[in-house]
Amino acid sequence: MSFSSVGVIGLGYVGLPLAKLLAERGLHVVGVDVDKAKIQHLYAGISYISDLDDAEIQQLMACGYFEATEDYSKLTDTDAIIICVPTPVNDKGEPILKYIQLAGQHLEPVLLNKQLVVLESSTYPGTTEEVLLPILQGNGKRVGEDFYLAYSPERINPGDKRFHLTEMPKIISGVTKACLEKITALYSPIYQKVVPVSSPRAAEMAKITENSQRFINISFVNEIVRFCEKMNINVWEVIEAVNTKPYGNLYFYPGPGIGGHCIPVDPLYLQWKAREIGSDVEFITIAKKVNDSMPHYILSRLTRLLDASTLKDKSILLVGVTYKKDVNDLRESSAVHIMSLLIEQGANVSYHDPFVPRLTLHGQQYDSVELTSDIISSVDCVLLLVDHSNLPLDVIVANAKLVFDTKNAASRLGAFDHVKYL
Ligand SMILES: NC(=O)c1ccc[n+]([C@@H]2O[C@H](COP(=O)([O-])OP(=O)(O)OC[C@H]3O[C@@H](n4cnc5c(N)ncnc54)[C@H](O)[C@@H]3O)[C@@H](O)[C@H]2O)c1
Repeated sequence: MSFSSVGVIGLGYVGLPLAKLLAERGLHVVGVDVDKAKIQHLYAGISYISDLDDAEIQQLMACGYFEATEDYSKLTDTDAIIICVPTPVNDKGEPILKYIQLAGQHLEPVLLNKQLVVLESSTYPGTTEEVLLPILQGNGKRVGEDFYLAYSPERINPGDKRFHLTEMPKIISGVTKACLEKITALYSPIYQKVVPVSSPRAAEMAKITENSQRFINISFVNEIVRFCEKMNINVWEVIEAVNTKPYGNLYFYPGPGIGGHCIPVDPLYLQWKAREIGSDVEFITIAKKVNDSMPHYILSRLTRLLDASTLKDKSILLVGVTYKKDVNDLRESSAVHIMSLLIEQGANVSYHDPFVPRLTLHGQQYDSVELTSDIISSVDCVLLLVDHSNLPLDVIVANAKLVFDTKNAASRLGAFDHVKYL
């Protein structure tokens, strides 16, 4: 059982690095995306995700093993197709599965060659068998005979260069025994370790459990922040002390709130499914409440640091607007939420982010400003929200009237009266 060509549906933060990895391993990769602009960027050799630079995109496009298209019919001759489409939530925190459903509907007519289909999007347990399978079986095709269906969660950590994709143990599952054998044959030569589980729902649950665990724990640490503030205890000193315990400890750090397409979203999928089956996951409710309140807490703390009753007319320079360090992803970013609240409260807001040259909020366009001594010294406060690598922290600290550092990034420069920490 060998694979020579693979389709990847959805060329975003997950799909594009995966497509690149597969092409590097000598598989012919057909990348399909509905976003015409992304296809154009790829052929122009311009990257749109922070984990890959332009040179890497140009290398991928020139390697002869990769093509990008909007055309699903090009998947007909592939041996396997991997789905990496988004799984967001709506305003009520309910799963939006339309991207998976649409991908399935477009895919079904091209499943003519006993291909393996692998869903990699993060989702609630049951999605592969209850949502995707019926679509792919629509025209009388039989799973395990006419096509194969598997689920394997993606565990990429954008912005984190410590682990190569292939080093991440790859959880795999199949709808039937034959489906599991197929995905094992696809991924065993690519990943250093595959972790087979008994069913797609177990694999779906594993992914959503690991992300929920992170959501709950970071939210707990963020709740501890408030307690420490009231008790006048340095939370960072506490965390550092806690982290000396060599067993039974998990490393979680405070911050201005959890963002991104995964950690604050996946737990809501789990909770939605729990409620659908007459159960609940109350930890998620509490964690969400804490997380949702973080931007407001940051603003109230900022108001107190400025010894003001309101932030109206205060000039605030935000440093970092992405949802975490070293990525260009703004989805569910707490920093953007904070910036939006500051604008609503009448503050004079500017921002710097090396990954985000321009941002539109409340109908107004903001350009990332340079961190010059003049700009830094002209504002009432520099609010550090994301600790991107290579920020000129020394310049910020040397020139700012007040720094509110929510990531403890400047502490390594020494102690300064005008630098305050979360
Ligand atoms: N971003 C992460 O760090 C991360 C990590 C692990 C897992 N995941 C999960 O992986 C999935 C994808 O996330 P992402 O961050 O790559 O999203 P993304 O938005 O960066 O990429 C998804 C891509 O799919 C395309 N798309 C949407 N519908 C399509 C369709 N019907 N056909 C073809 N293309 C379509 C979009 O245009 C987009 O380019 C999500 O379920 C997410 O939860 C994300």
